[in-house]
Amino acid sequence: MTPWPYPLWLAHRGAGKLAPENTLAAFRLGAQFGYRAFECDVKLSRDGEAFLLHDDTLERTTDGRGSPSDRAWADLARLDAGHWHSPPFTAEPLPRLAQIAAFCHANDCALNIEIKPCPGFERVTGEVAALQAEQLWAGRSVLPLLSSFKPEALEGARDAAPALPRALLLDRLWDGWPETAEALGVVAVITNWRLMDRALIERLHAKGWRALVYTVNDAPVAEQLIAEGIDGIITDRVDQFDPR
Ligand code: G3P
Ligand code: MG
Repeated sequence: MTPWPYPLWLAHRGAGKLAPENTLAAFRLGAQFGYRAFECDVKLSRDGEAFLLHDDTLERTTDGRGSPSDRAWADLARLDAGHWHSPPFTAEPLPRLAQIAAFCHANDCALNIEIKPCPGFERVTGEVAALQAEQLWAGRSVLPLLSSFKPEALEGARDAAPALPRALLLDRLWDGWPETAEALGVVAVITNWRLMDRALIERLHAKGWRALVYTVNDAPVAEQLIAEGIDGIITDRVDQFDPR
């Protein structure tokens, strides 16, 4: 199997339950709890800036409206992405991928960039996120792991920056996923934890792929997956699981 430089535990959306998801505040909080690896969701502004946001629309986690793919970065940068969570985080901005890279370098943290394209922007989001990541991590020994539920996004990433490691995300075991993972040249498969068991871990390992899961918030589930040989666990519960 490919050498695996990433910690077992990854904080989901930064540490995006106790602080607003996908913001620098969430990353800071995760680091305070000892986390040295993070997952975050990346999409593109209209003018091609890679930045962090989960949803296809701005309403739930910012004071903006509509699709972020219609807005220039200068406009998105003014939004409040913290107040929706709780008043102490008022005015917390949306971060660019470049700011998250700087945080990871300064705090010796690894990053799993989930490429989360707005509909219709799958391939270009993969290409641009991968190119920006390649520049931002140039010369670093641990590269970011690029993952996506969208094969087209991973194709774009593979073609733009083939040296960056890729992982296919699965919320169900759809027909043809192993062939797709093979064609994408992945190093890992990341599934919903409900799909993962010892047999699937062994099947992935036999292909040379690492096995990761999202989003595990329950101790018995984590313990069982660790006993079965899981390589990575994405969690919201940074306050419950000590990664050290
Ligand atoms: O990257 C794994 C996990 O984040 C996928 O689910 O919806 O939280 O992005 P979601
Ligand atoms: Mg995600």
